[in-house]
Amino acid sequence: MSAATKFEDPRVNSRIVAAYRARTAGSGALAAEAAELLPSGIAHDSRYLEPWGIYVERAKGSHKWDVDGNRYVDYFGGHGALILGHGHPQVAAAIAEAAEQGAQFGANHPREIAWVRAIQRLVPSAERVRFTSSGTEATLMAVRLARAFSGRSTLLRFQGHFHGWHDHMTAGYSNHFDGSPTPGVLRGITDKTVLVAPGDTDAVAAALATNPDIAAIILEPTGSSFGQVPLRPSFLHALRDLTTRHGVLLIFDEVITGFRTSRGGAQAAFGIRPDLSTFAKILAGGMPGGAVAGRPEILALLDFKATAAAGREKIGHPGTFNANPVSAAAGIAALGILAESDANDVASARAESLRAGMNEVLMRENLPWAVYGTTSGFHLFLNPQGRAITPASFDPHAVDFAEMKAQPAQLTNRLRLAMLVNGVDLNPRLGGFTSAAHSELDIADTVHAFGESLRMLRAEGELA
Ligand SMILES: Cc1ncc(COP(=O)(O)O)c(C=O)c1O
Repeated sequence: MSAATKFEDPRVNSRIVAAYRARTAGSGALAAEAAELLPSGIAHDSRYLEPWGIYVERAKGSHKWDVDGNRYVDYFGGHGALILGHGHPQVAAAIAEAAEQGAQFGANHPREIAWVRAIQRLVPSAERVRFTSSGTEATLMAVRLARAFSGRSTLLRFQGHFHGWHDHMTAGYSNHFDGSPTPGVLRGITDKTVLVAPGDTDAVAAALATNPDIAAIILEPTGSSFGQVPLRPSFLHALRDLTTRHGVLLIFDEVITGFRTSRGGAQAAFGIRPDLSTFAKILAGGMPGGAVAGRPEILALLDFKATAAAGREKIGHPGTFNANPVSAAAGIAALGILAESDANDVASARAESLRAGMNEVLMRENLPWAVYGTTSGFHLFLNPQGRAITPASFDPHAVDFAEMKAQPAQLTNRLRLAMLVNGVDLNPRLGGFTSAAHSELDIADTVHAFGESLRMLRAEGELA
């Protein structure tokens, strides 16, 4: 019997699964209907959960409520988009006003200029900006720009780093670490990708020295999955030096780190100016939207007159919802709040309290796991190889990426369900994002829920 079938089986001997099923019967009914309509009944792989994921009806601030009326402290955070929490009053008002004025003009509109200015106020390297509808589209355009600008074809990426789901980015994220193509992707594309172990400066140097066809390096600057496998800032500086020396473009994928690692993203936090940056999530204040930004001479490849003057063919870029006015309004509001308030610092402070509180629970329970992370993120290391670690002083740099990413399936599932039963929604990796809307009371409730969840796991023999 496969793991998935086992979780679905109502006879499965788990009180946690039974409690979850009982609490979320309305979600279960919707999931049964959705299973007939959507592959796996879902719209995003991260929302897959056995026996089913919760169906959410509404959300406000740090909380969301499912169709059965259960309230959750939310750390999914809109996949990282909601550093101000759900339905921030100023962002919600901006969305309502823009929607009232018209959601799609098929024309330029003043908000796209204000949106660029709001980005530039925080991210000086964004000298030119092209809007897209998602982070995936932003990284796709960044790669295309890099190839067209450099006349080279190959992209250097890091194992485990996520840049969306287009054809260049699928191998080596969660599997296919040898760079072989995932289903439906052409080998011709993956042949033009070099995958390197994250943090391995020597391997990058060797690749650049031996392969003159490398157009660009793209990475998640704090490490994969917002630092679940963290990178040292010194690695970023080494990449900047190496790429400059070899005439290779450095692309910071700031889809998560943008406006979160600091108000100016990872590039401001670590003092590095990438050639191109990609943004989404916080950029659009919780609405759909993305952008690629950077050096004018690179973005000029999207410019009608500049390419004509240079005798070059322009890169085509339509996109019905590029710079959508409602997304623009939400983005302008959110970025303005981040620029003018301490929201970014508050979100980080809450995550720091949460990491400390959860680690205290682990110490009390004598469990050799660890909660770690930086700024407004947290990750749970389940220590699959039984290392001797102390939760509060765990060094995630000491463990390689395969071990950091390894998560025992059943334990992960039961802990996630137990946290939901106790009113907390984590992401599938058992981590999450904090927002400025999380209160210290939310953090205390979450720490309590973590202790209760571990007690439930112990009661059914999941913890040694
Ligand atoms: C670092 C990174 N890049 C790109 C993407 C893709 O963005 P989107 O989901 O908007 O396509 C994500 C999404 O989680 C991401 O985390």
